[in-house]
Amino acid sequence: MAYREGPQTRRLLHRAFDLGDAEAFFRLNSDQEVMKFTGEPLLSSLKQASEAIECYTDFERYGFGRWACVEKQSGRVIGFSGLKYLPDLDEVDVGYRLMPEFWGRGFATEACAACLEFGFRTLQLKEIIAMVIPANAASIGVVRKCGMRCEGEVSYEGIPVLRFVKTNSSPSVGGAAV
Ligand SMILES: CC(C)(COP(=O)(O)OP(=O)(O)OC[C@H]1O[C@@H](n2cnc3c(N)ncnc32)[C@H](O)[C@@H]1OP(=O)(O)O)[C@@H](O)C(=O)NCCC(=O)NCCS
Repeated sequence: MAYREGPQTRRLLHRAFDLGDAEAFFRLNSDQEVMKFTGEPLLSSLKQASEAIECYTDFERYGFGRWACVEKQSGRVIGFSGLKYLPDLDEVDVGYRLMPEFWGRGFATEACAACLEFGFRTLQLKEIIAMVIPANAASIGVVRKCGMRCEGEVSYEGIPVLRFVKTNSSPSVGGAAV
């Protein structure tokens, strides 16, 4: 099963990106301030953004992925949030990235909490991690507010990051483990 639609919250819905989102995806991933603590290179063209959307296979491969994060009221794509399977670690990572005009309004916390809940309830994951560059105070605020516990600093892809973890403490309904 591929969950191309993710959780809904009071203000947000989650769905897979499509080519109509290329411009929003480009603006997000070419903004220096947004990308500062992500450890990823900036996109340099709309074409790159379209290719990234077209080549994204996580939903087909793993059943879940990073979703477009859409503000329900305006219908605008305000960024992404979602779950990512990391084959090198055999772990699932929660992540989020929003356009600066939407920062500071609790959107990332709302999105992250909903993605964690989706991972535990729907996907029946046992554990979800987050990796945050230590200087990224806003992101540390998000994971802490979502109840993730810091396990200390590790190196990931050559970058020192804080590793946060949340385990599925709720009783599993139906008992099916993924
Ligand atoms: C990280 C990011 C998603 C946070 O989004 P946001 O919607 O502004 O976060 P929230 O409003 O939910 O804030 C969560 C908490 O962090 C705190 N926080 C937010 N920005 C902060 C900042 N710049 N410095 C310190 N704390 C901050 C808030 O105080 C809030 O706690 P509070 O509600 O008790 O005040 C956003 O800054 C972003 O997209 N950054 C660029 C991409 C990125 O770094 N992604 C994460 C990679 S690990």
